[in-house]
Amino acid sequence: MIEIKNVTESYVKGIKVIDNINFTVDNGIVFGFIGPNGAGKTTTIEMITGILNIDEGDILIDGKSIKENPIEAKKQFGFVPDTPDVFEKLTGLEYLNFIGDVYEISENTRLEKVKKLANEFGIEDVLRDRIESYSHGMRQKLLIISVLLHNPKNWILDEPMTGLDPKASYVLKNLMKEHAKQGNTVFFSTHVLEVAEKICDKIAVIDKGKIIFVGTCDELKEKYKSNSSLEESFLKIIEG
Ligand SMILES: Nc1ncnc2c1ncn2[C@@H]1O[C@H](COP(=O)(O)OP(=O)(O)OP(=O)(O)O)[C@@H](O)[C@H]1O
Ligand SMILES: [Mg+2]
Repeated sequence: MIEIKNVTESYVKGIKVIDNINFTVDNGIVFGFIGPNGAGKTTTIEMITGILNIDEGDILIDGKSIKENPIEAKKQFGFVPDTPDVFEKLTGLEYLNFIGDVYEISENTRLEKVKKLANEFGIEDVLRDRIESYSHGMRQKLLIISVLLHNPKNWILDEPMTGLDPKASYVLKNLMKEHAKQGNTVFFSTHVLEVAEKICDKIAVIDKGKIIFVGTCDELKEKYKSNSSLEESFLKIIEG
């Protein structure tokens, strides 16, 4: 569960990029975070994950404050950033072993999971190559596998479908749904409204640093009287 409480953030003093946002991502659901470019999605995610300090308010991950208790809070989630920058001089396998060591995953579980996931994402042939030789999508797949390796209760992903091929995107969507079904939390940002509509149990819409809607896709469509698509409702809500 992720609880965002009265959170405000300014990169430049006096200019609120995130303006007093509040919402809760419950257990057992896939929760989509949508909004136009520059709305504040990545900034919010960076605060949830402790990359960025929170100016005002607090964020709890399974009850642990990222502000007051960052180590414990960080143990509760796995994060896939929008830019898959990883240690380039390591091989994919070395990177996964490094993550396995950090999260104290047993050798057997590690091997089994890496084999299964690398196969599903189609990168088993390059695991012994250095990450510097990977394409953007291959790096992203490696990061996704590294997060799934330690199976955190909360998955946080920033634009995870960007750069993935259709098969990988399909595999990931199924893994996300499966994870939520087991009572865990999946929180991800996306621009792809069809994806949001297909897999999200709930969404939050952010615009200019303010949360302007929290609910189901159907509720959003209902509110904006657009029976056809989430896209139409989204455009209506953004245009005010
Ligand atoms: N390091 C930074 N310094 C100053 N301003 C920043 C910084 N990073 C982001 N911003 C500003 O914060 C606002 C929100 O940016 P953010 O990256 O959170 O948007 P986003 O919703 O993730 O957009 P996108 O869909 O393009 O990824 C924007 O106005 C952006 O210019
Ligand atoms: Mg972003």
